[in-house]
Amino acid sequence: MHRRSLLSSALIAAWPAMAQEPGLREIAARRGITYGTAVHARLLESDAPYAASIAREAGILVPEGEGKWDSMQPDPGRFSLAEMEPILRFAARHGQTVRGHTLVWHTALPRWVWEANLTSASAEAMLEAHVAGSLALTRGRIADWDVANEVIGDPDLLPNQDMRDSIWYRALGDRFLDIAFHAARRADPACRLVLNEYGVEASWPRADEKRARVLRLLRRLLDRGVPVQALGIQAHMPLDQPFAPAPFARFLRDLRGMGLDVLLTELDVLEPADRPLRAEDIPARDAAVAERAYAVVSTAVAEGCRTVLTWGLADPYSWANLWPPARRPDGAEVRTLPLDRHFARKPFWHALARAFSGG
Ligand code: G3I
Repeated sequence: MHRRSLLSSALIAAWPAMAQEPGLREIAARRGITYGTAVHARLLESDAPYAASIAREAGILVPEGEGKWDSMQPDPGRFSLAEMEPILRFAARHGQTVRGHTLVWHTALPRWVWEANLTSASAEAMLEAHVAGSLALTRGRIADWDVANEVIGDPDLLPNQDMRDSIWYRALGDRFLDIAFHAARRADPACRLVLNEYGVEASWPRADEKRARVLRLLRRLLDRGVPVQALGIQAHMPLDQPFAPAPFARFLRDLRGMGLDVLLTELDVLEPADRPLRAEDIPARDAAVAERAYAVVSTAVAEGCRTVLTWGLADPYSWANLWPPARRPDGAEVRTLPLDRHFARKPFWHALARAFSGG
């Protein structure tokens, strides 16, 4: 038999096993972990290899943009799931769940909100209406929402104020969170209500202070009876920030000790903006990214995290290709996610598989 036909027959013989090789969703589920990814609705409908990789690897989806205020209520009183609908339909077809991101944020707001000249009364009414109107559309289809996102001030920019200086904070102080979370609880009693934050992972003073601010805020909210149930930890991991498991594990233990769930909601690993490895040095870049991913996820899983999402699945679709400070100065495609541009599994993918398997 000709060599080529031997090779093709061997590949065909292996194909069923390769085709059935488990995705991260199955590997994670074996240990009670839900793994998934951020997605773009338009790509699920237009990019078949993208859609196939999402179906194979993800057990949960989060809209990268379609759940934000400017998509959900583009005009006053006009609520719409139109942008999110393709994601909800895709998830239903593929036995996946969907989580919501995000009801209250300082950005991704439509012009009519920016131009509203908020008073405390009008801000309260606007927040209650947005949360109630959005959850009325997703009740029964989304069981987990980032009610508020990135509400803590950056310690470098606001050394003397815990909270971000957003239009909501200026109008209401941190009571805007009471309003949003209580409105969410009223609108969807079955939904897990999450506060989502970034910059709480690294082992350096700026993250120490941000973790302290998050814990102080959550303590205040819980003491006031605000129905926050979980902290979403974005886990955008810049490699130029140090990471050691111990301080991160302690933070997760503190959160769990407050009765809160913990999720990793937007995991990716960002190459150093100022001194990136040479673009062509793919093995070294991938090894550094995989090592950090494994360190973060294995620590989180060991401390009770049971939901892990990456902020995308394949490198070409990462936000980090577009947005400073995540993008590379040389403009080369980033290596921040589990799959490469051919949807092939990278060391990052194997690091997640090992972390989920308890390896
Ligand atoms: O859809 C429009 C398109 O019609 C238009 O031509 C184009 C140019 O203006 O903009 C497109 O919308 C962009 C959208 O992404 C969809 O790609 C927005 O301008 C752009 O601001 C938006 O950026 C998103 C950003 O959040 C702001 O919403 C990023 O994709 C998304 O990755 C990023 O995600 C955030 C999380 O929500 C919170 N945590 C940090 C994370 C990364 O910044």
